[in-house]
Amino acid sequence: MKKDVIIACDFPSKAETFALLDRFGSVKPFVKIGMELFYAEGPDIVRQLKSRGHSVFLDLKLHDIPNTVRRTMSVLRDLGADMVNLHAAGTRAMMEAALEGLTRPDGTRPILIAVTQLTSTSEDTMARELLINAPMEDVVIHYARNARSAGLDGVVCSPLEAARVHETCTDSFLTVTPGIRFSDSASSDQVRVTTPSLAKSLGSDYIVVGRPITSAADPVAAYMRCVEDFV
Ligand code: C5P
Repeated sequence: MKKDVIIACDFPSKAETFALLDRFGSVKPFVKIGMELFYAEGPDIVRQLKSRGHSVFLDLKLHDIPNTVRRTMSVLRDLGADMVNLHAAGTRAMMEAALEGLTRPDGTRPILIAVTQLTSTSEDTMARELLINAPMEDVVIHYARNARSAGLDGVVCSPLEAARVHETCTDSFLTVTPGIRFSDSASSDQVRVTTPSLAKSLGSDYIVVGRPITSAADPVAAYMRCVEDFV
């Protein structure tokens, strides 16, 4: 599996997204679009990004009953997304149903990864509000194991967890890692940040980079710097 840099296009509109991507000319980065842009612009945004030559990670984090997730995943598959995700908390039955829905008649399918625990959830909140009384890292690894045994391709995690995920779930189980910052840029609201080169040495398979690229004075140079340091 090729390592790659995924740009998080956290924009409210197609116009702003394409204004950024137009600056890249013939370079076609792998892009991530989330709920904000997808709900604002509708599914056609995926088709348009694909027709412009981008690989698309559709970050919609599905979590529902297995039948609903199965049916929804077949819709996302037909849009042409290259990578999609769901919440591992939806259980193995939901993850297995998602894989069924994603798989095309010829056996091919987009990459499917799981969110373990959101990085916005603290160990304390997890215990008090969700009644999950285990260390955060154990929960993340346990959810990653569930995802692996359901047949998924990987998880979203911190680069700092990538080695343990690979140890537990095999080297080929993908780690898709946000929380990336250059050593000379602001961390903003990300708490545990990692540089692209550290993410590479920790074994991340894909880094997801938003503001260090999208808010840079020269986004193309910032992207190329990520590629040079990571790929
Ligand atoms: O701008 P920044 O580089 O912080 O963007 C990171 C992207 O990765 C955002 O789209 C954010 O929602 C996403 N993400 C994250 N942490 C997670 C899961 C997703 O930062 N645990």
